[in-house]
Amino acid sequence: MTKAFVPTMGALHAGHIALVDRAHELADDVVVSIFVNPTQFGANEDFDRYPRTLDADRALLAGRAEVFAPSVVDVYPPDNPPPVISAGPLGNRWEGASRPGHFDGVLTVVNRLFELVKPEFAVFGEKDWQQLALIRAMAAERHPNITIVGVPTVRDLDGLALSSRNQYLSPAEREAAALIPAVFRQIAAAGGTDESIVRGAAKLDHAGIVLDYLDVIEPATFEPVRGTGPARAIIAARVGTTRLIDNLTVRN
Ligand code: PAF
Repeated sequence: MTKAFVPTMGALHAGHIALVDRAHELADDVVVSIFVNPTQFGANEDFDRYPRTLDADRALLAGRAEVFAPSVVDVYPPDNPPPVISAGPLGNRWEGASRPGHFDGVLTVVNRLFELVKPEFAVFGEKDWQQLALIRAMAAERHPNITIVGVPTVRDLDGLALSSRNQYLSPAEREAAALIPAVFRQIAAAGGTDESIVRGAAKLDHAGIVLDYLDVIEPATFEPVRGTGPARAIIAARVGTTRLIDNLTVRN
């Protein structure tokens, strides 16, 4: 029997179900973990208010996957704490620059969950593009027998990437947030030029959306790129008090 694993922090939506569906294509058994990992949140971030909807999540997964909902002590036993995994230099860029220590927390928990679940496959969303790259590198080093599989982002009708954090948005903020995919589409259509990025940033600013970063990067190295070759637009922005991230292919 092979096992595919979908690590989540719960508050499940159609994006998570796409991961579960992909997991079923890969293996006989599918395990979904639901664990809001304290070590990947900064002191002033939304750990306390992160949506916790375990009963609804279990209902959604009934008949679809086995649920693994460990406690903090299961994941971080005080008498035998798991190793803290450093995300290295890439862990300090983009998301990591905005959220110091975030990726160390992600890699630490994913490494621990891999040890507990022991899957052959692990499935992650491409919405967290940098997270996916760092998990691939960590798994190659520490879990070479686990195949990491990325799944394209699931979007609402207006293009907004599905995220558990979208439920923080007021109706007006939700409407404004649709500018993020709209700006991405313009940047992609323009081939990721400086001018399209500047224009996109101005449009978001005009709508009161506060950028952490908006750029076009080489998808493997995360270096800014213009002109030719593979490219991906990346963004982190605050709509009201809600921080959203997204990424979109500009060139394959
Ligand atoms: O992407 C997430 O939901 C989390 O970062 C993960 C991978 C479940 C680790 O807590």
